[in-house]
Amino acid sequence: MIIGIPKEIKNHEYRVGATPGLVRLLVEGGHEVFVETHAGDKIGYTDHMFSLAGARIVHSPEEIYECEMVIKVKEPQTSEYPLLKEGQILFCYLHLAPDPVQTQQLIESKIVAIAYETVTDAQGRLPLLVPMSEMAGRIAIQVGATSLQLNKGGKGMLLGGVPGVLPARVAVIGGGVVGTEAARMALGLGADVTILDRDLNRLRTLDSLFGPRLKTLYSSPLNIEESIIRSDLVIGAVLIPGKTAPKLITREMVKKMSPGSVLVDVAIDQGGCSETSKATTHAEPTYLVDGIVHYCVTNMPGACARTSTQALTNATGEYALMIANKGWKRALSDHSGLRQGLNVCYGHVTNESVAHDLGYSYVPVEKLLTS
Ligand SMILES: NC(=O)c1ccc[n+]([C@@H]2O[C@H](COP(=O)([O-])OP(=O)(O)OC[C@H]3O[C@@H](n4cnc5c(N)ncnc54)[C@H](O)[C@@H]3O)[C@@H](O)[C@H]2O)c1
Repeated sequence: MIIGIPKEIKNHEYRVGATPGLVRLLVEGGHEVFVETHAGDKIGYTDHMFSLAGARIVHSPEEIYECEMVIKVKEPQTSEYPLLKEGQILFCYLHLAPDPVQTQQLIESKIVAIAYETVTDAQGRLPLLVPMSEMAGRIAIQVGATSLQLNKGGKGMLLGGVPGVLPARVAVIGGGVVGTEAARMALGLGADVTILDRDLNRLRTLDSLFGPRLKTLYSSPLNIEESIIRSDLVIGAVLIPGKTAPKLITREMVKKMSPGSVLVDVAIDQGGCSETSKATTHAEPTYLVDGIVHYCVTNMPGACARTSTQALTNATGEYALMIANKGWKRALSDHSGLRQGLNVCYGHVTNESVAHDLGYSYVPVEKLLTS
């Protein structure tokens, strides 16, 4: 198969759809890979490295979009819409439900669009979303620790303390992927960490994973309030799949926190779990409410685009190879989890939630595979 890797053009997006390592795997698998010039420059993957891996460097997006499959990170941008071709495979994050314009463009182009975020594994988890949650959870503690510094608006506190001085208190609300990685980083830096979840089995797992160093607490409104008020750093990491994040932290609770404390609301991409949260960008990541530093960046992994690219392509690589080796029809027939990734195909919407939310008729993938 002929595969194209474009340079990402979304604002501040420096990740790339394939590393030289993945390019090499694809080339060794008998495929031809075109990489757009400068696609990985910002994160240390030069054209020369891609060439050595076997890629052909091309100089325009038009040449990339001539390929049978395009592997990228973010959804196509407006200038890319006219380049999409009938029957071409597009493999990237799409997040179509809140994006009617893009959905309509994909339908009109008759492209075969497979979205990272809806691919599932044997346990029903989302293996191509997990790496970005792992990234965000770890980044949350890095940015939280920095925000506690005086020069960043914080109370001038070192997360781990020093001998003779108590460490900072960290409350992590939500003990899923983000929360677990945040707890791991905070414990690693020597902080005093409490994690709250309403799923007791999740708390049992965390308890056996980290032992007594990690305090676990059932997530009730009272426990949340008490934890937040006594914490120096709060991480919002809740998710109710498919829903906007519940507002577990009220404006009143934020008022009661001690000035210079920090709230990192990772759940901001689902609307945020505090009444005081509003989305921010890497250019201006924080703002103050009642003296509390709020960090609410919606694409936190973008801050570490090199690690994110490696983590993402570690997960996407085997699926990309599967599609390239078998073609999309056989790959999707053979792998039920990959089948869940198909969102739009030859003008039909094949994801039930997207069809429902945007008012299209839903065509099951199985129907297209047998037609
Ligand atoms: N800002 C970013 O860049 C970024 C990046 C990755 C993920 N995220 C977001 O981070 C959030 C967490 O993602 P995840 O992958 O860890 O999800 P997850 O499903 O692995 O974990 C969510 C956890 O929240 C818990 N939860 C639900 N309701 C709760 C409540 N009332 N109190 C306490 N806990 C509750 C669940 O039991 C679960 O353990 C999501 O909103 C996700 O979209 C943001």
